[in-house]
Amino acid sequence: MTKRLIAAIDTPDAAQARMLIDAVAPHCGLIKLGLEFFLRHGPQGFTQAASGHPIFLDLKLHDIPNTVAAAVRSLLPLGASMLTIHAGGGAKMIAAAAQAAATAPNRPKILAVTVLTSLDAAGLAETGVAGGPAQQVLRLARLALENGADGLVCSAHEISRLRDAFGPKPLLVVPGIRPAGTALGDQARVMTPQDAVAMGADYIVVGRPITQAADPAAAASAIAAAIS
Ligand code: C5P
Repeated sequence: MTKRLIAAIDTPDAAQARMLIDAVAPHCGLIKLGLEFFLRHGPQGFTQAASGHPIFLDLKLHDIPNTVAAAVRSLLPLGASMLTIHAGGGAKMIAAAAQAAATAPNRPKILAVTVLTSLDAAGLAETGVAGGPAQQVLRLARLALENGADGLVCSAHEISRLRDAFGPKPLLVVPGIRPAGTALGDQARVMTPQDAVAMGADYIVVGRPITQAADPAAAASAIAAAIS
């Protein structure tokens, strides 16, 4: 059975990352490492922390197509299972990333980020995009999927619209998840693990409810049990 839980290990501290990964990995399908870890420790630190576990490397690449393709090729030897790009980089950039990923024997899935959940309608309008986030998410999701992305990172509240528009095939990877009774932190629009999976999430990304729990392994195990 697919293990749908992805634990987000959001720390620049290598020893802490390693300890958390060892504790939670048995309960997770993948471990997510992002910019704060990768920019501090680089590929070598990544490989040490990953220690063979499947990794979602969330660097949200966004540049001209040639540069993004080269960046994906530079990442391929690390063996991450999932990489992220910004769909806003456009059709050619998305296609270049997908083609570069396809050159690896165990090619990583390319996931596209559409509209950052930190942007509301007003923030999006400031960037010149009228019509609001819902419309822009659908527009960028279509662009990403038509140009070779395997899936999308999306809010739980976008799952049903995306499934209606694109069907069951795209991988939907969903952060902003909070088990009932846990602190929201800076997440405003959250959903429980069970509800997100019931709505059609392929994977849920959970950070602080696991990493800041008194017992991270138990927290991950409880979430994994809730969605199994
Ligand atoms: O701690 P928390 O569960 O809020 O962590 C969620 C993780 O998902 C973080 O790594 C965060 O960067 C990421 N994320 C998010 N919202 C997005 C995209 C990624 O919270 N739209």
